[in-house]
Amino acid sequence: MLIDGHNRIVDYLRVSVTERCNFRCQYCMPEKPFSWVPKENLLSYEDLFKFIQVAIDEGIKKVRITGGEPLLREGLDCFVKMIYDYKSDIDLALTTNGYLLPKVAQQLKDAGLKRINVSLDTLKKDVAAKIAQKDVLEKVLEGIAKAHEVGLKIKINCVPMKGINDNELIDLLEFCKEKGYVIRFIEFMENKHAKDTAKGLTSLEIQNIISRKYNFEVVPRDSSSPAQYYKLEDGYEFGIIEPHKDDFCASCNRIRLTAEGYLIPCLYFEDAMSIKEAVQNNEIDKAVNILKEVLKNKPEKNKWSQEDTSETSTRAFYQTGG
Ligand code: GTP
Ligand code: 5AD
Ligand code: SF4
Repeated sequence: MLIDGHNRIVDYLRVSVTERCNFRCQYCMPEKPFSWVPKENLLSYEDLFKFIQVAIDEGIKKVRITGGEPLLREGLDCFVKMIYDYKSDIDLALTTNGYLLPKVAQQLKDAGLKRINVSLDTLKKDVAAKIAQKDVLEKVLEGIAKAHEVGLKIKINCVPMKGINDNELIDLLEFCKEKGYVIRFIEFMENKHAKDTAKGLTSLEIQNIISRKYNFEVVPRDSSSPAQYYKLEDGYEFGIIEPHKDDFCASCNRIRLTAEGYLIPCLYFEDAMSIKEAVQNNEIDKAVNILKEVLKNKPEKNKWSQEDTSETSTRAFYQTGG
């Protein structure tokens, strides 16, 4: 079992396979031109897998593949299969923007993927194009439908932004309720890459909007989920991810591996240690030691939960895997 320096059990590993993305979401990507990490700096699937094996052997029970946009990296279904074949009862999931899902959903399911989380901030074509800076809605909706059809469990992530999609929260909730998807609204996490004007809604503001049409009650918190869930009178539950809350990090159970091989103890944390050399040289003991060292240094709280958010994260989600 893996325990961090604040006595939290860590059993969830998020693995980013690329920082590249085919969207330019306002809350994630810089507006100015920038360059990607060169492809040759990325760990091969074999090397990422070596670390995943180490982590599973040490107590990881849930692996989520992230990006950037993970479906941009070729052969992802083979990578999923490598993990599934190693331990089929692992909670094996993927976070994606959905654009490329229509083509690959079936292959991913066949390879052993169980769950999929897709970003959907709006149901309006023009608003989607404004947020992602590309005309994306049709493909994303098609991708979600396909994933559902092949039997993958689906969660929708929505980042409510002032003046952009805050008038659609009830429509999005009703869309998910009707289709049988879980929806989670995520409080915008300030970072230096996001558009200057990007302004998120607080959990309370989100709740106020939903309460204009629905009564709901708080569901007791499941410690393994980053979301607080709320139950409507008809039993449907929606979640809100509330990183600005004081106690958000108390139940944090995760660590992140970037596509370049950096092990990151917290979404916010600036520090990271590389496992690249250890896995490339097949030094398994060294990889285990690095994992334990990173866990020892996992911070107690992220900075969004502190009062002054003016000093925001220097890492964007496309770099850390969200
Ligand atoms: P489930 O396994 O379905 O619960 O998914 P997940 O919420 O772990 O994964 P997903 O990729 O859908 O993450 C949704 C978002 O939750 C992330 O992109 C972040 O916005 C937020 N989040 C998840 N973990 C953390 C965390 O440790 N700290 C902070 N601040 N936010 C987090
Ligand atoms: N704040 C909150 N959520 C974000 N995401 C990306 N950047 C941010 C941010 N700055 C969300 C995406 C995706 C999930 C992995 O993270 O919408 O669904
Ligand atoms: Fe790409 Fe996800 Fe960032 Fe949007 S939020 S730009 S889909 S990595």
